[in-house]
Amino acid sequence: MDARDLLRSVRMAGSAQGRRSARSAWRRQRIDARDLPPEARGGERARVPGTALEVEPLPGGGTVRFARSVLRVRVGVGGAVFCGWDGAEPEPSYAVAGTQKWGSPRERPSGGCPEADPRAVLEPDPDGWRVVSERVTVRVSRHGAVEIRTPGGRLLRRELPPRWWDPVGAEEGQGAARWVQRSETPADARVYGLGGRAAGPRLAAGTYRLWNTDPGGSFEPGDDPLYITMPVQLVVADEGCHLVFHDNTWDGRVTLRDGEEGAGSGHDRRGGCEVRMDGGPLRYWVITGTPSRVMAGWTALTGRPAVPPRWALGPHHSRWGFGSAQEVRRVVAGYRERGLPLSAVHLDIDHFDGHRIFTADPVRFPDLPGLARELAGQGVRLVSIVDPAVKAEPGLAAYDGGRAVDAFVRDARGQEVRGVVWPGDAVFPDFTDPEVRRWWGGLYAERLAQGFAGVWHDMNEPVSFAAFGDATLPRSARHALDGRGGDHREAHNVYALGMARAGYEGLCELRPEQRPFLFSRSGWAGMQRYGGSWSGDVATGWAGLRASLALVLGLGLCGVPYSGPDVGGFTGSPSPELYLRWFQLGAYLPFFRTHSAIDAGRREPWEFGEQVLEHARAALAERARLLPYLVTLAHVAHRTGAPYVRPLWWNSPGDRALRECGDAFLLGDSLLVAPVLEPGATSRAVRLPRGLWYDTATGEPHRGRTQVLLDAPLGRIPVLARAGAVLPVAGDDGTTELEVWAPRQGRTGGGVVFTGDPEGWAKPRMERFVSRWEDGAVVVERDGGAAPAYTVRMRGAAS
Ligand code: NOJ
Repeated sequence: MDARDLLRSVRMAGSAQGRRSARSAWRRQRIDARDLPPEARGGERARVPGTALEVEPLPGGGTVRFARSVLRVRVGVGGAVFCGWDGAEPEPSYAVAGTQKWGSPRERPSGGCPEADPRAVLEPDPDGWRVVSERVTVRVSRHGAVEIRTPGGRLLRRELPPRWWDPVGAEEGQGAARWVQRSETPADARVYGLGGRAAGPRLAAGTYRLWNTDPGGSFEPGDDPLYITMPVQLVVADEGCHLVFHDNTWDGRVTLRDGEEGAGSGHDRRGGCEVRMDGGPLRYWVITGTPSRVMAGWTALTGRPAVPPRWALGPHHSRWGFGSAQEVRRVVAGYRERGLPLSAVHLDIDHFDGHRIFTADPVRFPDLPGLARELAGQGVRLVSIVDPAVKAEPGLAAYDGGRAVDAFVRDARGQEVRGVVWPGDAVFPDFTDPEVRRWWGGLYAERLAQGFAGVWHDMNEPVSFAAFGDATLPRSARHALDGRGGDHREAHNVYALGMARAGYEGLCELRPEQRPFLFSRSGWAGMQRYGGSWSGDVATGWAGLRASLALVLGLGLCGVPYSGPDVGGFTGSPSPELYLRWFQLGAYLPFFRTHSAIDAGRREPWEFGEQVLEHARAALAERARLLPYLVTLAHVAHRTGAPYVRPLWWNSPGDRALRECGDAFLLGDSLLVAPVLEPGATSRAVRLPRGLWYDTATGEPHRGRTQVLLDAPLGRIPVLARAGAVLPVAGDDGTTELEVWAPRQGRTGGGVVFTGDPEGWAKPRMERFVSRWEDGAVVVERDGGAAPAYTVRMRGAAS
């Protein structure tokens, strides 16, 4: 028990729930001591591949047989490289699942693992072998090092020969081994991703654990890991960018080491990465190219991000602890009376009957369908929290129904695993079982019947309260793993991904005419197929504000573009200034929701004084004006994998100064947002990417590749528009207009506009626009020359 455990157990002692948590923690420890295979200390044999013996060319590359392992190299059409050791194949995989085709939800995913590039084959090379393809060259040395190079031969990544520790008695390469894989990257490389990391977006040197974790209470930037971990790294260097994905769901650690340049001495120290996994296959993908190409490749492999319904791009209000339907009405009326837009209200666990999922409190929320209808009449949707844990209580429909289909996770002796969550003693559906997913998806019929328009998955790391140790299921707990069978060590990180799939598919089945709205606290690579995420319990404070942007940026680079923080922070009471700055940032993030803990202060915009209310009103108005642009960005993300919120280096990965910037971002191609993340600021500096940028408040142009100081009065945060940008916005009467920012003299610009079905599956309409100078004036036309069918607003001066 460490100091944190001790604190936790002291805090919990005394309450009934605390006693349950203590019992549950002891139970977990006992089960693991009994059922986990003994730690194989001393009983392991280290192994490296040894020297290469023979080679077999195959489509996309081939296999190289070493003395003690075998490596499959396979370059896919489009350039994604797969490397699998010890016979590991690309599938089965929880991440690689293909792209959802636009259209009816019944059109099942297609694609996934790309076809092997028929022109790419292993051929001899002075030091071993190589596979040359249009986008990438892979070199394999005689001892099992693998290099990923650009077609021009520049080194992006070198994977050194891996090392395994096989348990004595197990056959070599049977997947039971722990392993480590070290690699080198260029000295100037910077790494992003690994899921949602509060200390990002650029990941500093250090060790990052791969184990989805509820930090408990709330988190600060130093807390790691958090709810979503993924072995996905986006690496940006002068030589080029690449994404590397170690397709392995086990617990592990990634250690990053920064490189150092030898100031022209030729003695650069390369950057380093070590991936150390407790088990599971050693297989990885590398996708190279510009950031946009890399994200297109990554989401072609793991699925395109779901497009949220249009209303989900509006403002949401939530809190844990709405005492009753009356209070919900009061809050919604507060928005209405002040003329503030509101798109959705979220009901947390307190609307359930005794915290039992798929129920409603008969006294405090006696008529949810009636409440939902009433709010819908005011343009406000209801969203429901859904936790995975089911109260272990005979007579409860979800419990009885689950038992009838043998849905709940069992231990190695076949006993249902009991944990403790909000409703007390609880059991956990095994979302790695297709039958269980089907059953669970069907339960959402109850939520739809109660009038909910979307769902919010929580506590799905999964959490089981524990007075000490890991607050999750026993590592020895058994899971179906889609027919392969295994334990929680392998299933833990994909538990929430399976829950998201179950919810998404259930909603598609139950309400086929509407796109689901689903977001989830935990998840894994590929979760974007089903929906988005949010920051979780970010601590209220300026550090938490900064962390919330880091999370959104990092997740976007892992393929999950729809997310946002608890505006105002989850805990305590923000100062009016902090609340406002959080609100102003949130208004430019894909998921814009105020939310807080049961014992935290209020988060309604009028609770912080007149001045804050007026500034929040302005932020809400700007959000509403940008809605057509956000809709466009949602479709762009679906088509291309490009996140709505992008780091400043997105189009200029060679600009090293931008790689360090974590306090500003691009919103799509057209806007640059520089939120205020410090108290007392009335201006802020921002380094601009190349090009010309207009301050949208003043129209003043600023040259790129320079640092500028911009006004940031309390009433707004700096937002710049790229010269030449064409973006759709809502005009005063609500119809879509085009906002056009003058290109530089003699240059052109443009933009894309998606319009379409706000909630259904009809294919959206895409239009491209070009802006250019003609006879001393800026003109904008549709690709192909037609005049746009929208009102056009010209902005920005000629320069
Ligand atoms: C934890 C979630 O992160 C938080 O948003 C929610 O309010 C509580 N669980 C209660 O459901």
